[in-house]
Amino acid sequence: MTLPMVVPAQGLPPRIRIHEVGARDGLQNEKTTVPTETKAEFIHRLAAAGLTTVEATSFVHPKWVPQLADAEALFPLLQDIDGVHLPVLVPNDRGLDRALALGARRVAVFASVTESFAKANLNRTVAESLAVFEPVVARAKDAGAHVRGYLSMCFGDPWEGAVPVHQVVSVAKSLMDMGCDELSLGDTIGVATPGHVQALLAELNEEGVATNTIGVHFHDTYGQALANTLAALQHGVTTVDASAGGLGGCPFAKSATGNLATEDLVWMLEGLGIETGVDLGLLTDTSRWMAERLGRPSPSRTVRALTPQAEDQEQ
Ligand code: HMG
Ligand code: MG
Repeated sequence: MTLPMVVPAQGLPPRIRIHEVGARDGLQNEKTTVPTETKAEFIHRLAAAGLTTVEATSFVHPKWVPQLADAEALFPLLQDIDGVHLPVLVPNDRGLDRALALGARRVAVFASVTESFAKANLNRTVAESLAVFEPVVARAKDAGAHVRGYLSMCFGDPWEGAVPVHQVVSVAKSLMDMGCDELSLGDTIGVATPGHVQALLAELNEEGVATNTIGVHFHDTYGQALANTLAALQHGVTTVDASAGGLGGCPFAKSATGNLATEDLVWMLEGLGIETGVDLGLLTDTSRWMAERLGRPSPSRTVRALTPQAEDQEQ
């Protein structure tokens, strides 16, 4: 299996935790609904490839995201996976009840920093959605769960255009004040560039949000996700969201495409000598297997580069 030559760079963290979102962010956006057993196998294979956090599904309204309407059937099929966190998204009390009833130990609320996307994604204003999340986070913490707070549209919004940094900081502080254990900064439509990433992280630090509570979540619409990730690593971020094979998007934001592909991220981190614990061969096999089930090739450059071409196989 081809791997990059290891040449470390100065000033980067020695180890990164990858927060794998393919089974949730990836599959929520597929036109066809993937069978529950296929999702369960996908998640088992991701765990076997060495991913230690695999976001499993969402306990959202089944009419809003029919692709994940099988959350109750799926989650119990994952209980034999040892030593891997399986966070789930919960938009409100009802979602939290459903998740806790099945024994979920990690949940994520998901806020928008813009009014347009709050309305499109949660049917609420930003303030209303934060008011919904406050008791959800409190109850989740009381139940001993770890809580992630997503922020969407941190760098730009398809309806509102550029998003001022202070708007992101305000929602980030609200989520931390509620008791979230970590945040994930979402570039939902993939418009961020590296300077913008570093400016936002600096401003968050300035306002008291520590780097070790921040993860980054880049979609790759303009091919900037890996450059943005490197900028975040240079700032000291050690949690990076990525999606096996580059699956992903958001059904409520037209311009959202796939997430940063986990394979592309692992290739870069391997080359930098940064530990991830991920076996790139097993991961690539998994994404190829999933692409076959979805009936289209993986958009990941690394998956494509590591896939033998038909003519090579014939030789
Ligand atoms: P609503 O229609 O305003 O809901 O939707 P409601 O509170 O008015 O309730 C209406 C009915 O829905 C009630 O039933 C509730 O019980 C039921 P009734 O009493 O009429 O029979 N209901 C539920 N049923 C099951 N599970 C639930 C639930 N909640 C209410 N959890 C709601 C509001 C938030 C529910 C809806 O807008 C929703 O489900 N939105 C989810 C959207 C979503 O999943 N988006 C994708 C994930 S976010 C993302 O991808 C971005 C991210 O990747 C980061 C980035 O890239 O930026 C995280
Ligand atoms: Mg996303």
